[in-house]
Amino acid sequence: MNILLTGGMGFIGSHTAIVLLEAGHNVVLYDNLSNSDASVLDRLETITGRRPSFIEGDIRDGIAMQKALANIDVVIHFAGLKAVGESVHKPIEYYDNNVNGTLVLLDAMMKTGVRRLIFSSSSTVYGTPATLPLTEDCPTGEATNPYGRSKLHIEQILADVCRAEPSFSAICLRYFNPIGAHPSGLIGEDPNGIPNNLLPYVARVAHGTLPYLKVFGNDYPTPDGTGVRDFIHVMDLADGHAKAVPYVMNNTGWIAINLGCGRGYSVLEVIHAFEKSSGQKIPYQLVERREGDIAANWCDPSKAQRLLGWSATRTIDDMCHDAWNFESRKE
Ligand code: NAD
Ligand code: WQD
Repeated sequence: MNILLTGGMGFIGSHTAIVLLEAGHNVVLYDNLSNSDASVLDRLETITGRRPSFIEGDIRDGIAMQKALANIDVVIHFAGLKAVGESVHKPIEYYDNNVNGTLVLLDAMMKTGVRRLIFSSSSTVYGTPATLPLTEDCPTGEATNPYGRSKLHIEQILADVCRAEPSFSAICLRYFNPIGAHPSGLIGEDPNGIPNNLLPYVARVAHGTLPYLKVFGNDYPTPDGTGVRDFIHVMDLADGHAKAVPYVMNNTGWIAINLGCGRGYSVLEVIHAFEKSSGQKIPYQLVERREGDIAANWCDPSKAQRLLGWSATRTIDDMCHDAWNFESRKE
């Protein structure tokens, strides 16, 4: 299969590229490098023995998109901006990149006859869960920030496109909290500046690059009072995309599928797991809740098991071990 990965040089896209290359697919990475680095290509070649094609370009460039789509069977659409806090201050940039970028991509797909799309959606579309675990039938529409709303808009646009074009197939994969790294330690999550997300922050505290972690809230209605999330190893997530490829080829219409482990770990449990994996102490302070955070979320991943034959296999210890292996190799 010829598979185009928009945003394929980023965290989740690059790990997915490994699984697809190792499965024998032809992979084209299309990325404007706004949040990634060209050195990823060398690392992918070292890991897989194959060098994917790379096109430096923006998804909002319709002509470049049409060229890139020549001979493509499936698009996996990772490209977008993803920082929740930043999206509150830069809504136009977020809607332009994420929503307008997807519209330009869809228009280019229509013009080139490519009808198969796998989209990076997010558990954020569920907003504050009324019940747990979250199934795909749970209500959406309560996202609390422009980033989350951009994901909702895109999901709805894809549903409309599938209604209008019966030959179109779109899978919205709703990721829970992806963490970890490839076991080689050559690629992983390396945000610029001070990380917003828990795991990259913990990894830098373990490495000594940051002095201590702030734990946002210990008065949630959870077993230890700290937030609970469904963390999933990025290589499990990558496997989920590979399993979605035959599904999107053999089916038409719109579908949403959760990708998570189906169980939650608290912030304190993650700290302890990371300490065990790294052998490093993680100093932390309990501070106020972070605005916009929910107490807990985890998913019911049975639809992915039923329809894609996929379930997560890596443990929280694997996630912390691989994240530390990546972090500790850095200067
Ligand atoms: P990332 O920032 O590492 O990767 C995104 C890639 O897209 C980057 O390489 C960036 O350079 C590229 N990009 C951004 N805007 C572009 C544009 N206009 N044209 C071309 N390329 C562009 O992020 P990630 O963590 O790999 O996330 C991938 C996707 O998954 C995103 O859509 C994100 O919203 C979604 N997602 C991520 C998480 C998470 O926690 N990481 C959770 C749920 C959903
Ligand atoms: C996890 C837990 C924090 C940092 C975000 C997006 C979501 C999705 C995944 C893209 C929470 C606590 C964190 C810190 C802490 N991304 N925490 N100290 O907020 O569940 O989800 O990333 O779609 O849309 O919102 O992930 O890693 O930021 O936080 O105590 O320094 O860790 O309060 O309980 P979150 P996170």
